[in-house]
Amino acid sequence: MDAWDVILSRRDVREFEPRPIADDDLDRILEAGRRSPSSQNWQPWTFVVVTGKAALGRLSGVWKGASHVRSSAATIALVAEPPGSAAGDERLHYDLGQATMSMMFAAAALGIGSGHSAVEDQDLARSVLRLGPEQRCYYLVVLGHPAQPLRPVRHPDRRPFDEVVRRVS
Ligand SMILES: Cc1cc2nc3c(=O)[nH]c(=O)nc-3n(C[C@H](O)[C@H](O)[C@H](O)COP(=O)(O)O)c2cc1C
Repeated sequence: MDAWDVILSRRDVREFEPRPIADDDLDRILEAGRRSPSSQNWQPWTFVVVTGKAALGRLSGVWKGASHVRSSAATIALVAEPPGSAAGDERLHYDLGQATMSMMFAAAALGIGSGHSAVEDQDLARSVLRLGPEQRCYYLVVLGHPAQPLRPVRHPDRRPFDEVVRRVS
């Protein structure tokens, strides 16, 4: 897939085939995250990869919208130390968003489905991911071979182009 096909085909996938992701493919997705840009190149993240069935099952309990973690082949937890300021929080969330999309696009280019999940129960996340007390799990990137293959989405559920785009000349 070229870059434009990847952009057209990525969608949030929540149903997966029960087969693993090849190690090389998983490493490529993680490398895409590692290469993501960040504010002043501070690279605030640690990516914790979960592949074990029991751990994925437990991790699916961190938020009511995390049930797709259970059937995923792998889930990447985006972990960082809270910066301790509103400005730092803003930078962190922007940067984690960029890393998320880099990994999702890398996955889509391999035909691998990805989905987001928020994280509410930090104690559970900390226990499953074996985090230190100073670490927080901000989001999950949920991965697996999609039950329905990725194809260009013809009619995405998005606001109209002319409503979203404003031009100034
Ligand atoms: C910050 C953020 C948090 C999200 N949290 C969840 C979540 O907890 N569970 C979930 O199933 N999807 C979650 N999503 C996925 C969105 O619901 C999804 O991107 C949106 O519905 C568009 O889906 P589409 O790209 O397949 O059209 C999240 C997306 C973002 C950007």
